[in-house]
Amino acid sequence: MYQAFFGFDEAPFSLTPDTAFYYGNASHQEALNTLLVALQLGEGFIKVTGEVGTGKTLLCRKLLRELGQTDGFVTAYVPNPALTPTALRYSLADELGVQYHRNQGQHKVMQLINERLLAEKAAGRRVVLIVDEAQALSTECLEAIRLLTNLETEKSKLLQVVLFGQPELDRQLAQPAARQLLQRITFSHCLAPMDDTAVSGYLMHRLTVAGHTGPRLFPARVAKRIARASGGVPRIVNILAHKALLAAFGEGRAVVDRRHVDRAVADTESLARRKSRFVGRLAMLLAAATSAGAALFGAYVIAGPG
Ligand SMILES: Nc1ncnc2c1ncn2[C@@H]1O[C@H](COP(=O)(O)OP(=O)(O)OP(=O)(O)O)[C@@H](O)[C@H]1O
Ligand SMILES: [Mg+2]
Repeated sequence: MYQAFFGFDEAPFSLTPDTAFYYGNASHQEALNTLLVALQLGEGFIKVTGEVGTGKTLLCRKLLRELGQTDGFVTAYVPNPALTPTALRYSLADELGVQYHRNQGQHKVMQLINERLLAEKAAGRRVVLIVDEAQALSTECLEAIRLLTNLETEKSKLLQVVLFGQPELDRQLAQPAARQLLQRITFSHCLAPMDDTAVSGYLMHRLTVAGHTGPRLFPARVAKRIARASGGVPRIVNILAHKALLAAFGEGRAVVDRRHVDRAVADTESLARRKSRFVGRLAMLLAAATSAGAALFGAYVIAGPG
């Protein structure tokens, strides 16, 4: 709605993970490089974790694109793995273009997948299974994936797996039933939030991709305010930047100022929740400190000084 006013060709802060807007900040770029190198090396299991909104799905899509443009890779993408192990195997078969009938037993489907993996290997291609939202995988599905990566020739694995997930994935992998899989994860990366400089670069990058050419829309102090309020989490940066632009547009201002960001922050529920969690934790700490102080004081009174 403010696109024409600011001279954008498209919305700069949409919440859709669109690879055209990818900004290679340190943590994302490091993750992407790690993934590409590890996959080239033939690593069997790679894990990328990150808090909600830190850019896992975008990175997933970026990886799919990169591998799509690299000779020697075939990818299978499972975006939503809240599936049964059977559905997961069908999904892999579909992605690989394996022909099968639903009334064929699972053993047969596995055999067909294995044949396809061997054929890809013979053609000199690596097959990579990429799972987003991996924290939603059941223990049974984690085990099914582990069994899939058991398919191998004498020299190498036939299937490489990349898991993208929220931090709960680590807790799931720590369960006794998933230990075998955990042991096989040789490369992992945790996506960090952006620092102030990265947020500033991120804002400018997304504006440029959206077609903005005019003067700086988010001056340095304003960008810093967004960085601090968002904790450097890209999705929250997008929400705040969008709302701040709306506020500036509402006033007919061509540049965003601090008040616009403050209004965006006040209007953003997820931030209120972050803040109330923080206040809650602070209150608990204060209560603990107060009761420890009271106990010490009591001991002092009872025992007397010295
Ligand atoms: N490096 C980046 N460059 C450009 N945009 C980014 C980057 N990282 C994240 N974003 C943007 O931030 C938003 C959230 O990213 P994304 O949906 O990938 O997060 P997520 O980690 O998958 O979240 P969830 O845990 O909820 O699945 C998207 O709009 C995405 O385009
Ligand atoms: Mg996601």
